[in-house]
Amino acid sequence: MVLPHSMPLVPLPASAIAGDGRMPLSVTTRVIGDSPAAAQLIDAVLRRSGIHLTSSAEQTSEISLRIDASVAAPEGYTLSVSDTVELVGADEAGLFYGVQTLLQLLRQDDEGWGFVRAEIADAPRFGRRGVMLDVTRHFFDVDEVKKFIDSTSALKFNHLHLHLSDDQGWRIQIDSWPKLTELASSTASLGDPGGFYSKDDYREIVAHAAARHMVVIPEIDLPGHTHAIGVAYPELVEDPVMNDSLIAESERLGQPLPVAGEPYLGWGVGHSSVRIHEERTYEFVRDVVRELAEMTPGPYIHIGGDESLGTPQADFDHFVERATAIVFEEGKIPVAWHEVGAAKDIAEGTIGQYWGKTTPEGSHAAEAAHFVERGGALIMSTADVAYLDMKYTADYPLGLTWAAIIDVRTAYEWEPTSVLDVPDSAILGIEAPLWSETTRSLSDVERLVFPRAAAQAEIAWSARTGPGRDWESFRVRLGTLAPLWKSGQVDFHPAEEIPWSTR
Ligand code: ACM
Repeated sequence: MVLPHSMPLVPLPASAIAGDGRMPLSVTTRVIGDSPAAAQLIDAVLRRSGIHLTSSAEQTSEISLRIDASVAAPEGYTLSVSDTVELVGADEAGLFYGVQTLLQLLRQDDEGWGFVRAEIADAPRFGRRGVMLDVTRHFFDVDEVKKFIDSTSALKFNHLHLHLSDDQGWRIQIDSWPKLTELASSTASLGDPGGFYSKDDYREIVAHAAARHMVVIPEIDLPGHTHAIGVAYPELVEDPVMNDSLIAESERLGQPLPVAGEPYLGWGVGHSSVRIHEERTYEFVRDVVRELAEMTPGPYIHIGGDESLGTPQADFDHFVERATAIVFEEGKIPVAWHEVGAAKDIAEGTIGQYWGKTTPEGSHAAEAAHFVERGGALIMSTADVAYLDMKYTADYPLGLTWAAIIDVRTAYEWEPTSVLDVPDSAILGIEAPLWSETTRSLSDVERLVFPRAAAQAEIAWSARTGPGRDWESFRVRLGTLAPLWKSGQVDFHPAEEIPWSTR
């Protein structure tokens, strides 16, 4: 028997027994089942192998897909590959994830294409398996975001957090505040062109994500990270507040300091704030949240809350208490970066996103715990292991280093329930963010995201322990993803510690 951890699968399934050899694939293999996942399978096999699975009526083997809620927990599936393939999803998402597993079992050898024979039963550890794309520091158009959704949902991620506003630009059409996109969207970091999503663009992204079982979480970062709002509506923001680290960092990078009302293209943080004591600010927040809620079928709106160094603490607390309440009043669940937990009366049930380190510093752990005390829960985006924009090595050309240098092994070897002193049940799962200061193209993004997103996917999906749930197994299994990424034109960093396969 071949052990599960030598199968070409990431994330590691809950249970997998390898069979003997492969089930050959040819134009006479038929797909049976009318779910969207069946069409997605046919399409993906055609793109990868050139084989059109339905092109012959003379069937020699078949792949059947069906749903039966009793086979696994939600999002789970069973997959049996022998002389036929039988895939049973607990639900549509389970079928989709079973198809992703089947596509990893699809391999080419000297005899042609075939599926590695196996018996698999699988379901996720965490319901929250997220990635974040920062479209503010650099903008990525609809097709690029769709490609990002394709490549991350293939690793069984099920949430896409879009960071839609920051000092460098505003990226989403808001009808009641039209100058946001008219005046504050055209710029990006490093003087690169910006852009924004029309409401139709955004809906297209949401629909593409939904078809791949990904929930979109839109973020409007408040009350800091708001310089761009002031380019459009100066009356909503305070003048930039200079702090020592902003000045030092700007000097080091040769980036000009922010100037009120003018686009800011540097990377400095903590200088901007909306006006906390103007009622107009809350009209703005409500309008933006309402319009976002109207075009967002998922239950969450993210209101930011990180690095508001230019907002006095009492003002910050007042603002986030009101902003979290506004999100609930507009029918959604607020999500916020962990600093928001400093405020005593955040709306009950607000979800916190921890972005501190594996050894929490200062007040970070207490702030995160406060979300749980208020009946909420936590998403773990532990910066020194899960941030996808940190460099792999000190001399890697892309990425930053402020949280850590994160090689693939470091990205893999952490445990989301061991960082904070909260009950395991308060941890919804993880999210791996990609901040885009240094990524000037989607290819740049992909080289930071892959392969480390696969490590985060395994942490989020796979059981905490079990045969194969370790670095030695992971690095070998990870290497088998290379042909899939290559055929999908997904760029990745060919990290030296991984034995990359050619087919
Ligand atoms: C963050 O990295 N400022 C959430």
